[in-house]
Amino acid sequence: GLVSMKEMLNTALKEGYAVGQFNINNLEWTQAILSAAEEEKSPVILGVSEGAARYMGGFSVVTAMVKALVNEMNITVPVAIHLDHGSSFEKCKAAIDAGFTSVMIDASHHPFEENVKITKQVVEYAHEHGISVEAELGTVGGQEDDIIAEGVIYADPKECEQLVKLTGIDCLAPALGSVHGPYKGEPNLGFQEMEEICQTIGLPLVLHGGTGIPTDQIKKSISLGTAKINVNTENQIEFTKTVREVLNGDSDVYDPRKVIGPGREAIKETVIGKMREFGSAGRA
Ligand code: G3H
Ligand code: ZN
Repeated sequence: GLVSMKEMLNTALKEGYAVGQFNINNLEWTQAILSAAEEEKSPVILGVSEGAARYMGGFSVVTAMVKALVNEMNITVPVAIHLDHGSSFEKCKAAIDAGFTSVMIDASHHPFEENVKITKQVVEYAHEHGISVEAELGTVGGQEDDIIAEGVIYADPKECEQLVKLTGIDCLAPALGSVHGPYKGEPNLGFQEMEEICQTIGLPLVLHGGTGIPTDQIKKSISLGTAKINVNTENQIEFTKTVREVLNGDSDVYDPRKVIGPGREAIKETVIGKMREFGSAGRA
């Protein structure tokens, strides 16, 4: 059923694996990810960006859809509906009020003091409602929806320690060289900082920009305290590749189910691969 990320991620950190956050865009995306999770007996986090929520018709449409699918599909594994890169207290509150079980407040582009202030406000409201909170420090490179970063700025371990102490967040995304969208060459992740940050704060770390990180770097991140890995672009690429093949291979097809259905399968296969790679398969 629907749960916050708190227990999911604390268990993952303790047992040395990571739970995947897979972003959703519509019904097919959600079906594919839920069905992968149930088949693999894996906990799962459905990531919803503000842009994707707008596309689907609003936060309450998202939660109604997810709840109905969890019920109709007899999903027994833990599922979190998580606001990805929440841009303000107001947006986080609106998501929580609509039934999200987890939120990320991304105030990382604000000065540190401001980040602390906004994050703290979100934690107070969220924890009153049993909702988990992820915060960010530093800058993840690349672009995702409304989030555009010029350069990559590595999170400062001292600031991480302060942020956790002052806000009471449940998990932290320290930007350490990861990028939204494809990487130009090999990623250059700050493993030393990752280890130091997890040792000092003792909380599960989140790795954004999961698409295109080689398996050895994924495994190393998990061994250093990463307990949540976000994947978005890879599912988009696999979905679109498959749909394009269908359309290129049949100029007469017009039934949307025949066009999009195979794309849904492609997402499911991709997600299953990630759950095995992250070690979350068989944990629920
Ligand atoms: O917040 C979502 C993720 O960080 C997605 O990154 O699109 O590079 O997989 P990605
Ligand atoms: Zn992200």
